[in-house]
Amino acid sequence: MTLAKQASEKEQIVLSLEGVTMKIAGLVALNDVTFSIPAGKIVSLIGPNGAGKTTAYNVISGYMAPTSGMVRLFDEDITGHTPHSIAARGLVRSFQRTSVFDDQTVFDNLLTAYHLQGRASLIQSLLRLPEFRREEARLKKQVWEMLDFLELRHRADERAASLSYGEQRILGVGIALAASPKILLLDEPAAGLNPSETDEFKAMIRRIGNSGITVLLVEHDMHMVMSISDQIVVLNQGQVIAEGDPQDIQNNPAVIEAYLGSGVKRA
Ligand SMILES: Nc1ncnc2c1ncn2[C@@H]1O[C@H](COP(=O)(O)OP(=O)(O)OP(=O)(O)O)[C@@H](O)[C@H]1O
Ligand SMILES: [Mg+2]
Repeated sequence: MTLAKQASEKEQIVLSLEGVTMKIAGLVALNDVTFSIPAGKIVSLIGPNGAGKTTAYNVISGYMAPTSGMVRLFDEDITGHTPHSIAARGLVRSFQRTSVFDDQTVFDNLLTAYHLQGRASLIQSLLRLPEFRREEARLKKQVWEMLDFLELRHRADERAASLSYGEQRILGVGIALAASPKILLLDEPAAGLNPSETDEFKAMIRRIGNSGITVLLVEHDMHMVMSISDQIVVLNQGQVIAEGDPQDIQNNPAVIEAYLGSGVKRA
């Protein structure tokens, strides 16, 4: 690889916030927030309760238009775009409780997710035209590949409701991945997971990162954050107070002060 190529890869920015301010009912939830997320990295957004993390997600994914500032996805200004339009451009958000269809099998949950991306039209599917059957076969192949990626192949025929909580969360991420995101936003994915489920979840996030998808993570489990993040952005009272790799962040006095000052034990 040439140095020029290395440099350009290093500099590719997937998502950036530029001077984003969000006022909600007179309160400044985000105050001139600027940060950027390089391609292929796992970046965590952390901070004490009320720091503005969820508000940042809402602004990034189009659920709230910022009071001022700009959100950029690749080279495009997406400020104020609808969630649907932002998702279509490759930014997919997995919610804390991603809806899986409890009564469907694991396989069918994923097949439904892929169908939402599929190209066969409704009329083709109703008529069961050859093109629909080809499309269906292609999607089923993708489902099997996704099951392998999620390490859920052995659960393919189980009802989603019969999975463990940790497996349901992994399936929820699989449903988000079926939308072929370029960047995936996860909101407290480890909340409620036991230690071994957390380890499995962490391993899956690493596999997602290794597959080239950029990951933005909001998470209170600091062991998880410190062990999987390439980069961490710290918010406090709506402002970015630190940015760096896990070691920088752990030793940053402003960060330690913010967490101690917040009196929050769970972080
Ligand atoms: N819809 C809303 N109406 C009023 N205030 C809001 C609203 N959403 C957020 N806020 C306020 O904005 C600030 C930032 O909240 P936000 O939910 O973004 O924090 P957070 O970092 O996600 O916190 P937590 O770790 O508790 O989830 C808080 O003071 C919160 O009370
Ligand atoms: Mg929140």
